[in-house]
Amino acid sequence: MNRRRRIYEGKAKVLYEGPEPGTLIQHFKDDATAFNAKKHEVIDGKGVLNNRISEYIFQHLNDIGVPTHFIRRLNMREQLIREVEIIPLEVVVRNVAAGSLATRLGIEEGTQLPRSIIEFYYKNDALNDPMVSEEHITAFGWATPQEIDDIMALAIRVNDFLSGLFLGVGIRLVDFKMECGRLWEGDLMRIVVADEISPDSCRLWDIKSNDKLDKDRFRRDLGGLVEAYTEVARRLGIITENE
Ligand code: C5P
Repeated sequence: MNRRRRIYEGKAKVLYEGPEPGTLIQHFKDDATAFNAKKHEVIDGKGVLNNRISEYIFQHLNDIGVPTHFIRRLNMREQLIREVEIIPLEVVVRNVAAGSLATRLGIEEGTQLPRSIIEFYYKNDALNDPMVSEEHITAFGWATPQEIDDIMALAIRVNDFLSGLFLGVGIRLVDFKMECGRLWEGDLMRIVVADEISPDSCRLWDIKSNDKLDKDRFRRDLGGLVEAYTEVARRLGIITENE
């Protein structure tokens, strides 16, 4: 099965060579890491759930004209994607104060933000993914000013779509992280949404109880991660009651 050439192995995913040029296979592992992999556990079933949830989100983004790297899901743990040149930024969109924003600025978790806030972090494990400004991004050549504009426009569209999608099933989208890549089509290049969007990369709170349905269950030792991700998949109609 895994005689395919491995292109890259990350903390929660592996990328293999795809069946055609310009394609890759994205494999979701069960590994959960936090605090830059200082905390690590294997959680049975997490990869399968993230593959399904991320498929659902990316397919909907494609359907509403938000370009992504996603082509189709292949099996329980794998999806076919377009090969892109990953921009070394984590783009975080926040609607409600939580996590590092709450800590850094001393804002109580759960406070609705006056407007959505977009932040950029430089993807670099050795440096703990430091927060960077547009000045850093352009000065060091990670992305051009035009690309930053495109990334922000994508981030706002993804946030609007996801906020509505989750609100419809009784979940508040507190914040999320997305990554972007350059997709080359001949001489033409466009920025697309890449990587994954799943409860690993979002904060999702139940509207009524504020129960956390995301990776904070692992980061904060709350337990019940698979149950929470399953609940997200159930509410979105991805899996049925009997699955
Ligand atoms: O930790 P922080 O509050 O900055 O995280 C903001 C959002 O970005 C959260 O939804 C978190 O799950 C996501 N994130 C991520 N990968 C990282 C850092 C943050 O998916 N390396």
